[in-house]
Amino acid sequence: MARIGIFDSGVGGLSVLREIRKLLPGEACVYYADTANCPYGSKTRAFIIGRAVAITQLLLDRGCDIIVVACNTATAAAIATLRARFPVRFVGIEPAVKPAALTSRTGTIGVLATASTLSSAKYRKMKETYGDKVAIAEGVGQGFVELVEAGELTGPRAEAVVRASLGPLLEAGADRIALGCTHYPFLLPTLEKVAAAYAVPDIRVIDPAVAVARQLAKVLAEEGIPLRGGADGTTELLASGPDGILKKLFQTL
Ligand code: DGL
Repeated sequence: MARIGIFDSGVGGLSVLREIRKLLPGEACVYYADTANCPYGSKTRAFIIGRAVAITQLLLDRGCDIIVVACNTATAAAIATLRARFPVRFVGIEPAVKPAALTSRTGTIGVLATASTLSSAKYRKMKETYGDKVAIAEGVGQGFVELVEAGELTGPRAEAVVRASLGPLLEAGADRIALGCTHYPFLLPTLEKVAAAYAVPDIRVIDPAVAVARQLAKVLAEEGIPLRGGADGTTELLASGPDGILKKLFQTL
């Protein structure tokens, strides 16, 4: 049976865990939420690397064979260090710029991510790759992580917060919104509700979590890590701080 370690700054990575469980329902997952240090988006690169190294060590000590960095911010800041430091495979996540760029009809895409991700070298490279195909409007999902960590996913306040960051991207003509933070998919109903008020035809919000689960299955096969199969795998939830919302959101998955 594969034992899959997954981590994020908080509950956001549960949006990735959900896709992993769908694709590999018989395996064992250990999910670590660094809620004592959330959000990562405003922290320094050195701090995020330090946390990513410590959490990886903890997950390996609990017998994980592979690590999913279910956080765009930690992937951008730390995955190169993790790969150089630990003898296991890592699967990361990055903003869904590629599928957005390849399917946009207006020729403009929007990217929503944390400040740390948008200023990373990894994201800059992505922009260089796709920036000649489409115009890219980007913005920080200001206050999104805080809403999700508070379990406030819908309602007038959530809509106002979402509108403030999403509105400018839609006004710039974006018809594809690439999500670049694993917390943001939990706001999908609100993102879609707000987007519907702007008259952009065929608007789509793209979550890269499905692609991460597929990549994980591919890497497990490449590594020859045997799968248990079946549909009754387990998930262990761990947190460095408060875990109320973590358990609540996990139950709704
Ligand atoms: N969920 C994380 C990400 O994908 C981090 C959000 C945060 O802690 O700021 O970027």
